[in-house]
Amino acid sequence: MLRVSALEKRFGGLAALNDVSFSVAPGQIKSVIGPNGAGKTTLFNLIAGTLSPSAGDIHLDGVSIAGLPAAAIGAAGVARTFQQPRVFASLSILENAMLGGHRFHKGGFLACGLGLRHTRREEEKLRARAEKWLDFAGIQSIKHRNASELPLGQQRYVEIARAMATGAKLILMDEPAAGLDETETKELGEMVRAIRGTGTTVLIIDHHMDFIMSLADEVLVLNFGQWLAEGTPSQIQNSEIVIEAYLGSDDDA
Ligand SMILES: Nc1ncnc2c1ncn2[C@@H]1O[C@H](COP(=O)(O)OP(=O)(O)OP(=O)(O)O)[C@@H](O)[C@H]1O
Ligand SMILES: [Mg+2]
Repeated sequence: MLRVSALEKRFGGLAALNDVSFSVAPGQIKSVIGPNGAGKTTLFNLIAGTLSPSAGDIHLDGVSIAGLPAAAIGAAGVARTFQQPRVFASLSILENAMLGGHRFHKGGFLACGLGLRHTRREEEKLRARAEKWLDFAGIQSIKHRNASELPLGQQRYVEIARAMATGAKLILMDEPAAGLDETETKELGEMVRAIRGTGTTVLIIDHHMDFIMSLADEVLVLNFGQWLAEGTPSQIQNSEIVIEAYLGSDDDA
C-alpha cells in the first residue's frame, strides 16, 4: 500500500535521508528503527507531507503523494502521531479527538467548535466518531478533562484516537512508547495490534527492541539516513550489520 522509492531529503549539506526504498503491505505492522538522527522522523515528515522530498517518490495505493500538502495526504488516508505528543492543551480530550474527524465535515472544526456554519447533525456525527475512538483508546470516561492535565501515556492515547478518527488507512506512529513504563508499553502494544485489527496499516518508529520485536511483522533499519537492513524481527535481531550500527551509537546499544 505504501511504496517509498529512492527517497532523499537534504537539509543544506546534510542528507537526512539518502536513497531510501521500501514498501509496506496492507495490514502490516512495520517498524522503523535506527540510532538517533538516523532519519526516522524525517521519513515520517516526508510521508505525511510536513516536508517535501529533495528526490525520490512515495506512492500510496499506486498514487504518488510525494510533495503534496499535508492536508491532501491526510485526506488520502495517512494519519500520524508525533514523537512529542501534540495535543491541544486548551481543548478537552473529546475536542482533541473531534479534530481528527473534521475533514469529513464541511464547516471545519473551528466553525463546529464555535457553533458556526454547521448543522447540529454534523456535529453529532463528528462527536460520535470521536467518541468511538476514545472508547477504543480507553479514555472515553475522561473525555471532558482538559488534555493538558493528562500524563504522557494518556496524551499518546488522545493522539491515537485523533489519528484513528480521521479514518486513516495508514497510521504513522513516531516513538509512541517513549517515556512509558513497562505496563504502559505492553498496553500500547495491545492497542497497536487492535489498530491493525481494524484494518489500518501501521508504520511505527521505536527504540525499544523488545517492544518492536514482539510487535512488528517486518522491520526497516535506517542508519545515517541510509537503508541499512530490512527483514523479519528475528532476521534483524541476528543481523551483524544491525548489531554493529547499534553498538556504534551512544545510547541505543
Ligand atoms: N528541519 C530540519 N532542518 C535541519 N536538519 C534537520 C531537520 N530535521 C531533521 N534534521 C536533521 O536530520 C537528521 C535526521 O533527523 P531525524 O529527526 O529524522 O532523526 P531520527 O531518526 O528521528 O532521530 P531520533 O531517534 O533522535 O528521533 C538529524 O541529523 C537532524 O538533526
Ligand atoms: Mg525522531
